[in-house]
Amino acid sequence: MNPIAHQPDSLPAPSLAALAQSDALVALIRTEIDAAGGWLPFDRYMERALYAPGYGYYSGGSMKFGLRADDGSDFVTAPEMSPLFAATLARPVAQALDASGTRHVIEFGAGTGKLAAGLLNALDALGAAFDTYSIVDLSGELRERQRETIEAEAPALASRVRWLDALPAQFEGVVIGNEVLDAMPVRLFARIDGVWHERGVAFGDTGLRFDDRLVSAPQDIAFLATVEAEHDADLAADGIASAITDDYVTERHEAALAFTRTVCTMLTRGAAIFLDYGFPRHEFYHAQRVQGTLMCHYRHRAHGDPFLYPGLQDITAHVEFTGIAEAGVDTGADLLGYTSQARFLMNAGITDVLGGIDPSDAKRFLPAANAVQKAVVGSGDG
Ligand SMILES: C[S@@+](CC[C@H](N)C(=O)[O-])C[C@H]1O[C@@H](n2cnc3c(N)ncnc32)[C@H](O)[C@@H]1O
Repeated sequence: MNPIAHQPDSLPAPSLAALAQSDALVALIRTEIDAAGGWLPFDRYMERALYAPGYGYYSGGSMKFGLRADDGSDFVTAPEMSPLFAATLARPVAQALDASGTRHVIEFGAGTGKLAAGLLNALDALGAAFDTYSIVDLSGELRERQRETIEAEAPALASRVRWLDALPAQFEGVVIGNEVLDAMPVRLFARIDGVWHERGVAFGDTGLRFDDRLVSAPQDIAFLATVEAEHDADLAADGIASAITDDYVTERHEAALAFTRTVCTMLTRGAAIFLDYGFPRHEFYHAQRVQGTLMCHYRHRAHGDPFLYPGLQDITAHVEFTGIAEAGVDTGADLLGYTSQARFLMNAGITDVLGGIDPSDAKRFLPAANAVQKAVVGSGDG
């Protein structure tokens, strides 16, 4: 059990209305915890905190995306920072449409619609042949925001955009998702006194808190054996023979794996491109990653308390990309490649896209050059 502070003084306080909405969500979650016998797995808590209709972070009206804390936003993504990201991503998307002879794009988790608007314009400028651009987002609340962005920034192409309530059984075209896999709920596991527990959520005197239960399901035991093997191999590489002992916390990404299987089964022809924070398996279950990768974002501050203002802050976990690749390959898909965002953008020609901007136009060129620097150098190689 790990009760943690719920209101760090250093973070800006939400409005009274926002706090009331968060309290209402906590009451809903508490009812569900009680009905389940006092404990919910963390992935169910995370799903409620992010997507409970009307109350979750992505479905309850928070500002979410933006550049600064004082505009009420919590984090920024690459397509929000610069149009160069979409203009660069459009190149491999156009290439995949052409190579597969398909004419449709589906974007999952379109956020504010910035990436969609940028991609529509850039695909058009590249002369890519596409008929429809479909958006699937768990958050119905974001749909209006996406429509406004696309109508303002890509008005001539807006008629090709449609929003899907359910996935088509079959799809031919190019699938994209930027920072979507890391917004999917994860289960948590913690090794305590040498024994694996599943870290779930209970309601105690101080409110929501972590609560750890012994792991007994065979599939979880098998999964944790893989985690231990990766961990031990990493130590062995340094000549240290030791198993995981205490206080090692990690995540299991069942929702992202199931999503990948569904998308790859749906995709009968074309390609899927997912960009996200994450690592291959041997780095994900690395001996030094003792706290796992769960992270929360509130007003552009990152912290580790998922029970702070439920519904008002983002909760995310890095992606274990080896599992994602295996999930796709298991459905019969081919793995086209896996690389860092920096290399992907370089290979896709981000410097050529920058070269297309007149350097004497300082107003456009300087932020663009800065964005390239951030995307290529700042995003690192991992
Ligand atoms: C961190 S935001 C990223 C938004 C946008 N792609 C960007 O880069 O700015 C995550 C988005 O994924 C959506 N999402 C999460 N799970 C999803 C799923 N299974 N299907 C579709 N959208 C999903 C959320 O509603 C949210 O809009």
